[in-house]
Amino acid sequence: MVRSFSGIQPSGDLHLGNLLGAITRWVQDQHTHDAVFCVVDLHALTLPQDPAVLRERTVSLTALLVACGLDPGACTLFLQSHVPEHTRLAWLMECTASFGELSRMTQFKDKSARAEFISAGLFTYPALQAADILLYDTDVVPVGDDQRQHIELARDLAQRFNSRAGQDVLVVPKHVIPPVGARIMDLQEPGNKMSKSLESPQGTILVLDDPKAIEKKIKRAVTDADNEVRFDPEAKPGVSNLLSILGAATGRDPSALAGEYDMYGPLKADAAEAVVELLAPIQARYAELVRDTGTITSILHTGAAKARSVASATLARVHDAVGLLPPG
Ligand code: TRP
Repeated sequence: MVRSFSGIQPSGDLHLGNLLGAITRWVQDQHTHDAVFCVVDLHALTLPQDPAVLRERTVSLTALLVACGLDPGACTLFLQSHVPEHTRLAWLMECTASFGELSRMTQFKDKSARAEFISAGLFTYPALQAADILLYDTDVVPVGDDQRQHIELARDLAQRFNSRAGQDVLVVPKHVIPPVGARIMDLQEPGNKMSKSLESPQGTILVLDDPKAIEKKIKRAVTDADNEVRFDPEAKPGVSNLLSILGAATGRDPSALAGEYDMYGPLKADAAEAVVELLAPIQARYAELVRDTGTITSILHTGAAKARSVASATLARVHDAVGLLPPG
């Protein structure tokens, strides 16, 4: 089976864009792929974190991923810090990457421009990400376009490592970008992707928002003045985004949906209702799980054991290839 690997940071609340853009895809992948999902808590530490908040967010994200449909029986779901092979391979990736190529990473440039304290970990972040992926002999990495440069780097490092070793030690992964239909934009600034880091909380629907908040945000979503319902993301980004949301939430095609509306009001009302309906069962499962720390702990322990059995074999191969002696 094709192995897929995805990582997600426990750095904030999941929003509708994450759910419809990435997580829905991951839930499907579990049945067609050997799917590995990693909550990358070590990556979160590249920026300052309050320990209590990090702990809380890690548990909450794990519960939410399971509530969204990741099935620990069908996939491998674990925490990065529970599998020490990640940092161990990361070191070897740091010794494979050049200072120059890490300096060219646009995410590092963006984040370091905003950071008060630029940690060395922020700089070597992509080497740890490459290690995450390469440890599992990953074939495909289904993450957003914003990760393109990082996945390219992981491919380059795998190829460089193999060519230095003179043998195929690491599998060279492919980046697969989820289909464009699921690109959800900010409700207030429909030219930008929906994101938790934007200034406008009114533009972002969180997976855990209550129905009132969802209705209010969609009702106030930016549209345009011509009052024509048409799917045209260039000319009509706001209206098209509402059609995308309604389409993704109901499994229908946004252009086909456009024909069923001739005013914005009903489109907004239906989009809000569809999102509320989509999120209700997720929120109910989440509320149960997040209180049940025993279940979360056991999911994570099982996941780490499964992950480790693959990761330790890869690391042993890599150590041997560079000339490190086996420990035992
Ligand atoms: N950098 C990714 C992000 O910010 C998270 C991540 C860490 C990741 N390791 C990964 C994604 C490995 C895919 C594969 O979203």
